[in-house]
Amino acid sequence: MTELKNKVALITGASRGIGKAIAMTLAKEGINLSIASRDKKSLDEAADEIRRHSSVKVLAVPTDVTKQDNLENLVDKTINEFGKIDILINNAGISSQHPFHKQPLDDIEKLMRTNFFGYVMCTRLVIPHMVKNNGGAIISIVSGSTLVDPPPRNFIVYTSLKWALRAFTKGLFWEMRDLGIKVTSILPGVTDTALTGSLDKSTIEPSRLMTTEAIEKAVLFALTVPANVCPLEISVINQQTPWKTPIIPYQQQHPK
Ligand SMILES: NC(=O)c1ccc[n+]([C@@H]2O[C@H](COP(=O)([O-])OP(=O)(O)OC[C@H]3O[C@@H](n4cnc5c(N)ncnc54)[C@H](OP(=O)(O)O)[C@@H]3O)[C@@H](O)[C@H]2O)c1
Repeated sequence: MTELKNKVALITGASRGIGKAIAMTLAKEGINLSIASRDKKSLDEAADEIRRHSSVKVLAVPTDVTKQDNLENLVDKTINEFGKIDILINNAGISSQHPFHKQPLDDIEKLMRTNFFGYVMCTRLVIPHMVKNNGGAIISIVSGSTLVDPPPRNFIVYTSLKWALRAFTKGLFWEMRDLGIKVTSILPGVTDTALTGSLDKSTIEPSRLMTTEAIEKAVLFALTVPANVCPLEISVINQQTPWKTPIIPYQQQHPK
C-alpha cells in the first residue's frame, strides 16, 4: 500500500501489548481503526489513548475471538462504520507454560480456540470484504517459537498451534495473491508484555525481553513494500536468549 492515510485496519487483541502498540503506530500513519478484545474497560481506555495521540477514528468493539457470533458482530460493525477493511491484524492470543503431562485439558482447548481457530475464523469473515474492495493486507502475529524444531519444552501446545497458524498463513498467501490481497506472518521473539509477565518468572531474564518497537516497524514494512511484492514472513527475534532455564530441547540441562 503506497498511501496508508485513510485506510481502515481491524486489529484483534488491541487493548494492550503488541496489538495496542501496532494500533498506536497505524493511527499515527492516519489509518482509521476498529479494535477488539474481551474486556470492555481496557479496550475503551486503549481507544481513548489512541484518539488522544492521533486524529483517526477509532471504533472499539468488545469481542471474544473464540466466538463466531462475536467475530461476525466485529466485522459487521466495522463495515457499517467504515464501509471497508483494508488491513487485518490478527493478533489476539494467549500463552501458557506447562509440562505437557500436567497441562489442564481446558487450557489446551482455550489455546486452540484463541490462537488458531480465532485467527482462522476472523480471516475467513474479513476476506470477502477485501475481495469486494479489490485488495487488502492480512498480517498474522505468529511466534518466533515456530523457528525452534523440535518445539520448546513446556510450550509444545502453544508452539504447535503457532506452527499450524504459520502453515495456514503461508498457504493463504498462494490463494490470495491473484486477488490482490497480501498475506504476511510476523514471528516475534520474546516481548515485554502481560503475556510474558504471566509466565514463570524464574525462567525468564527480564532485561533480555524485546520491546514492541521492532514488531511495529515490521508491520509498517509489510504495509509499505512495493505493490508487486509481499513479505511472506518476517522474524524479529531476541539477539540474546531471554530464557534463564534452557527451553530449547537440544540445549540439555546438566543434572545438578
Ligand atoms: N509477548 C511475546 O513474547 C510474544 C511472542 C511471540 C508471539 N506473541 C503473540 O503476540 C500476540 C499478542 O501477544 P501479547 O504479548 O501482546 O499479549 P498480551 O499483552 O497478553 O495481549 C493480548 C491481547 O489479546 C486480547 N485477547 C486475549 N484473548 C482474547 C480473546 N479470546 N478474544 C479477544 N481478545 C483476546 C487481550 O485482551 P483481553 O484479555 O481483554 O481479551 C489483549 O488485548 C499473541 O498472539 C501472542 O501469541 C507474543
